[in-house]
Amino acid sequence: SSSESIDTDIITLSRFIIENQRNFQNAKGNLTLLLNALQFAFKFISQTIRKAELVNLINVQNHSISINSTGDVQKKLDILSDEIFLNAMKSCGVVKILVSEEQEDLIIFNTVEGEDETSYAVCCDPIDGSSNLDAGVAVGTIVSIFKILPETKAKYADPNELTKNVLRTGHDMVAACYAMYGASTHLFITFGDGVDGFTLDNNLGEFILTQPNLKIPEQRSIYSINEGNGYNWDESILEFLKFLKDPKSEMNKSTKSPYTARYIGSMVADVHRTFLYGGIFSYPCDKKNPNGKLRLLYEAFPMAFLMEQAGGKAVNDFGERILDLKPTHIHDKSSIWLGSTDDIDKYLKFIHDK
Ligand code: AHG
Ligand code: MN
Ligand code: MN
Ligand code: MN
Repeated sequence: SSSESIDTDIITLSRFIIENQRNFQNAKGNLTLLLNALQFAFKFISQTIRKAELVNLINVQNHSISINSTGDVQKKLDILSDEIFLNAMKSCGVVKILVSEEQEDLIIFNTVEGEDETSYAVCCDPIDGSSNLDAGVAVGTIVSIFKILPETKAKYADPNELTKNVLRTGHDMVAACYAMYGASTHLFITFGDGVDGFTLDNNLGEFILTQPNLKIPEQRSIYSINEGNGYNWDESILEFLKFLKDPKSEMNKSTKSPYTARYIGSMVADVHRTFLYGGIFSYPCDKKNPNGKLRLLYEAFPMAFLMEQAGGKAVNDFGERILDLKPTHIHDKSSIWLGSTDDIDKYLKFIHDK
């Protein structure tokens, strides 16, 4: 009968949050409010991207091309998604600070009266992979979440004091997630106790738990890097890739076959594939981007947190753990190598032996 083939007791993200709320330290329901607003933003952005071609949001000739604070061209959907995200965070009443790739300065909100001590700082990349938008390739939204520092409470009027809430190491994040708008819309989230994967059911309008406690495979011979930047790389990175591509190298002695290349150009999509299939994703420093291209607060940190929680690793070019880093400016960048433990260990051994 149909009742046998249809699960009538599915776990939605809302149910998951309610059931796990007791595990969130001092959350007092505020994290639930924040996650509801996040879900809404992801659904809204997802819808907007799927309609983009029909309502003229792509291939638009920008008469006045705008550039954001990290030097990227802003597309119409970058700005629209930023607005959607900002409004969702502003209205939920529990977000004190918002950092966005598309906003030069941090944004300060008024939280619900008396709730400032239990409010959050949220950092986001509203659309990751925006250069892929016009081609209909998967893009996403990346988010990191910090709890407001109690000692800054008395200094709320001073923006410099408030910035300290996000100039912290990655270990201070209480949650991180990304939504990927691909063939389906996926949501991977961590609260520091593993990673859970959800898929948006468009008819129900709900994120459904599809990958509980997801773990990354320990090894997979896939590398994901923009090799077109090779000319501007440090020689050692070229050498490392040469080893990966050589079936006879020490690095491939267990598989006896070379690594295969996969590079989409949306961090979200490349990292999503890495979670599911394994392998290495990297964006190293190069002569044009001496500190790497990806931004710490809303790209490297949340992905590193998720990656470690899924059993993988995330380091920079020098082998330092991404979560140990501490930005000095909200849009600071970092080089990154993340993925399966065995594969990242090959990189760590390689730089160590040099
Ligand atoms: P964003 O679209 O948020 O600015 O991020 C772009 C990032 C990231 O998605 C991707 O991994 C990387 O840029 C691709 O850069 P290249 O085109 O230089 O390979
Ligand atoms: Mn950008
Ligand atoms: Mn991005
Ligand atoms: Mn972006």
